[in-house]
Amino acid sequence: MNTIQRQRLLTGDTPTGKLHLGHWVGSLENRVKLQEEYDCYFIIANIHAFTTRATQAEDIRQSVIDITLDYLGAGIDPKKSTIFVQSEIPAIAELTYFFSMLVPYAELMRNPTIKDEIRDKNLGDSYPFGFLLYPIGQIADILAFRPDLVPVGEDQLPHLELTRFIARKFNHVYCGVDSHINDEEYVKAGGLFPLPKPLIGRIKRLIGTGAPTADGRLLKMSKSLNNAIFLSDDNDSIQRKVMKIYTDPNRLKPTDKGTTENNPLWIFHDVFNTDSQWVEEAKALYRAGEIGDVACKKRLVDILVALISPMRERREYYANDIGGILRLLQEGNAKANAQAEITLGMAKEALKQTF
Ligand code: TRP
Repeated sequence: MNTIQRQRLLTGDTPTGKLHLGHWVGSLENRVKLQEEYDCYFIIANIHAFTTRATQAEDIRQSVIDITLDYLGAGIDPKKSTIFVQSEIPAIAELTYFFSMLVPYAELMRNPTIKDEIRDKNLGDSYPFGFLLYPIGQIADILAFRPDLVPVGEDQLPHLELTRFIARKFNHVYCGVDSHINDEEYVKAGGLFPLPKPLIGRIKRLIGTGAPTADGRLLKMSKSLNNAIFLSDDNDSIQRKVMKIYTDPNRLKPTDKGTTENNPLWIFHDVFNTDSQWVEEAKALYRAGEIGDVACKKRLVDILVALISPMRERREYYANDIGGILRLLQEGNAKANAQAEITLGMAKEALKQTF
């Protein structure tokens, strides 16, 4: 019998489209590795998708299925990990309400991720009340599972900070824990919630395949910027997208000396090409004007095809049986509900609201 309790990991995605290489290097790659070690819960945060897409219910539903397929394609093993849907876990909604009382409104408005989203998605002042609620909802997603580790992209760090803030406050106010103890000590001292640690991926921010901005900035890979290579792309799409990647704009022919600094082609090689000796040698040839863009791009196509095509094939295998996907989600929801209900029960005890 296995008596060693595995540490718990929770993370997830908002279903607003299919997953791409930015998701892979930012978090998914970590999850596939860590599922061997941790008891993993992956939440598909469909309620969050309604914060900016309340009129696109059908798309959100489709994206829940797509993301489940992307997870399975990428190598998340449903026998080892629990994949579940946020709206199927009522305890999360209940905890959200209680947690919302512990965060001053002004504090939420200062959240840098919220501010950036309002700016980047051009939300102006027309965003719904529920949009401001979503960081608290995310905290409930996390704390409902009392995880030790939360792998996320860098943009999510303010939400993790707020999670730790609420966990500390709840433990202090309702469980009587001294709020000056070390973060690792809260549960030992009688707190209900551990203070979960974030884990940032190997690459914090992957660039997209599009042109740099007029002032030379390389934008991050994102579906809405139309510069993404998806984990479900076929080989022709991968090839077409890679062949269009921007390189050194001052290098007009392969015999011109090129620069590899800040050059998207070489950024992609640095991230995805594990043959670092080839990369160093090819960069030297590139700088000397002795190798063409096309040869280096073809190499990148081969590497990305080798990475993505097994994922796509596994994805297609699962996509043939949508009934099976729904059953898999239902099993995940049942497992997740069992855990979240335990947490909610204990939270209500601490809150003195059991009747
Ligand atoms: N907000 C996260 C994102 O957009 C997705 C998310 C929802 C999440 N709930 C979560 C991530 C809980 C980690 C833990 O990427």
